[in-house]
Amino acid sequence: MNLTVNYIKERIGNFQPDTGIILGSGLGDFADEYNQISISYSEIPGFEKSQVQGHKGKLVFAEINGKKVIMMQGRYHFYEGYTMQTVTYPVKIMKRLGIKTLIITNAAGAVNKSFTPGNLMFITDHINFMGTNPLIGQNDDTLGTRFPDMSEVYSKLLISKAETAAKELNIPYQKGVYVATTGPSYETPAEINMYRTLGGDAVGMSTVPEAIVANYCGIKVLGISCLTNYAAGVTDNPLNHQEVIDTANRVKDNFKNLLLAVLKSI
Ligand code: HPA
Repeated sequence: MNLTVNYIKERIGNFQPDTGIILGSGLGDFADEYNQISISYSEIPGFEKSQVQGHKGKLVFAEINGKKVIMMQGRYHFYEGYTMQTVTYPVKIMKRLGIKTLIITNAAGAVNKSFTPGNLMFITDHINFMGTNPLIGQNDDTLGTRFPDMSEVYSKLLISKAETAAKELNIPYQKGVYVATTGPSYETPAEINMYRTLGGDAVGMSTVPEAIVANYCGIKVLGISCLTNYAAGVTDNPLNHQEVIDTANRVKDNFKNLLLAVLKSI
């Protein structure tokens, strides 16, 4: 980890990040406008190359609305075959670089039938349906404790600030529980019915590993899902990745304005 941190510190000089943002599917463009310093994952010792279409795979550093931000343009997904260690390594590195807050974004399917594609959802809690946990293995006591509490993974204070920002900007939003699956196949209608019965409001293939590790390391987390589609079986339509990308693109401006307002208020 020292090799990674030292390499990044050498590249960013006296830039002292306080906030991290993980940009999800279709939301990566946000970083392009603030491209002050950027480093490809492939250049960073300890990082693996990211390969998914629509994910660029770089760290972008910028000062935005008074915050010193590290943005992850592209993330590692478990479904790509990466280990949970690889998926969550960047969070540990951001912790070492000094961030106090992490905004995690994703594209997700709406399980709750009263939600509409195009809405943003502030994550109030999650259900880990990935069948594993990123903290399995030897514990690094310098980062966190062996059995970390998870009763408030998503900061209530940050959610209330995000709500205030969304209201001021007239951006439609929901709040709810995010269910994480491994993917890469979308869910079946029976699975979606089960997730709804269990209390899930949205479903996706990311975020939970990073949120668990961030909470474990004492980083405050704000989770924002862009609801890109109805989950399987909510309508008769089949699901496809293009719809996910198209909806994320459609709400890009709302998303960007919300992020800017949240950065200002935290
Ligand atoms: N299911 C899982 N992941 C997703 C979905 C979905 O419906 N939409 C966007 N990511």
